[in-house]
Amino acid sequence: MGIVELPPATARQLGASLDIVDPLALTKELLENSIDAGATHISILISPNAVDRILVRDNGSGISPEDFHALGRRSHTSKLETIDDLQERGIKTLGFRGQALASANSIAAITITTRTRGDAVASQLRLKHGVGGVEGMNLTSAPAGTTVRAECLFETMPIRKRYAVKESQKTLSKINELLRAYALARPDIKVSFKVLKDSKNGWDYAPSRTATLQDAAMQIFGRELLNQCNYVEMKPDSPNAGDELNVGGGIVLGLQAFLPKLGLDRTKAKAKGRFFSVNSRPIASNRGISLKFISTVKTFLSDISGGHTASGRPSIPFIQINIQCDPGRYDVNLTPLKDEILFAEEEEVVRCFEALCRTVYQQPAQEAHQSEERSRHEVDCSVMLQGVGKHPTPDSSPLGKIY
Ligand SMILES: Nc1ncnc2c1ncn2[C@@H]1O[C@H](COP(=O)(O)OP(=O)(O)OP(=O)(O)O)[C@@H](O)[C@H]1O
Ligand SMILES: [Mg+2]
Repeated sequence: MGIVELPPATARQLGASLDIVDPLALTKELLENSIDAGATHISILISPNAVDRILVRDNGSGISPEDFHALGRRSHTSKLETIDDLQERGIKTLGFRGQALASANSIAAITITTRTRGDAVASQLRLKHGVGGVEGMNLTSAPAGTTVRAECLFETMPIRKRYAVKESQKTLSKINELLRAYALARPDIKVSFKVLKDSKNGWDYAPSRTATLQDAAMQIFGRELLNQCNYVEMKPDSPNAGDELNVGGGIVLGLQAFLPKLGLDRTKAKAKGRFFSVNSRPIASNRGISLKFISTVKTFLSDISGGHTASGRPSIPFIQINIQCDPGRYDVNLTPLKDEILFAEEEEVVRCFEALCRTVYQQPAQEAHQSEERSRHEVDCSVMLQGVGKHPTPDSSPLGKIY
């Protein structure tokens, strides 16, 4: 057979099923759209087999009627204009490719109900399957925000559909895990997750409007687990650094982490997990810089235990790290799920994390002053330490505070 151009519908379907490989990926994309729309409350409803229906409702900005024609069309986005936005200036939103809704619209039937705060009524839009744009519309009553309903997933892909149904229980628990990761990355967003006709698999996260990472971790995992971790924050000290921290090499960095104490008891840690995020974007824990962080922590734990752990190498049932930095300092366009980050100054970031670990694992409180002096020479950063549940006794320093 000679080389021929694929029919557009076939090309779209091939691309879409790579972008959205399963119901988990679709849920993630819809959730991210809601977060990007500034939602403070997001609810997710899914059918038990994970393919009949996935519905995500938010109280975000809504979509304005002038944009309806662009919905579900490939490469249509409100978040990016040129590649420089991504590569040089850095992108703050979770989405930027303008593909997710188009892909969703090729592997499922999509209905969107939306209303901006300026609209008197909401519009319910049925997207033209595969191509995007609006096939049918009626006015309806709904609060400001957007609800995206995806139905009949993978209807034209029987093998994928059968597999998705077979894996549906696993998918539901992975969605639970995914939502925990987003709650830790965005502690102030309320999330509720329900499985139709199944009260066991749901999950609710109801934070206060000013909830912090510590509040989220406490609510999600409980004090028992957190007592087995050190909570550490690395903050800026330079008067011009704003909320971030200059670690050298030009990158400005802030870090918040729950790091395991030696001997964190797996059995007592009722919730396990490895959670990493960069600028509130959860990233994969089994690739890239996340693996370097895990390896660093293992090395410190191994050093302080003198290799005396049951398996020789300490295990890390729980760890959580949030990084804040200028989004122009990394590339996020690496994987279809946008869940990996390539830092321009990766070595500096890892060195800064090592300095943080040294302070947690190597230095007792009375050495705090020397530790600061050393940190000042090794990396240009300041460290604030706080043991969870303890009353802080601040020790003043020119760089920051050590509790
Ligand atoms: N829940 C929502 N609330 C408001 N606007 C939305 C919502 N979902 C989608 N949109 C609008 O539709 C556009 C297309 O969404 P889509 O997810 O396809 O692309 P994206 O988020 O820009 O990029 P990506 O493909 O990387 O997710 C968005 O840029 C946004 O303007
Ligand atoms: Mg998106």
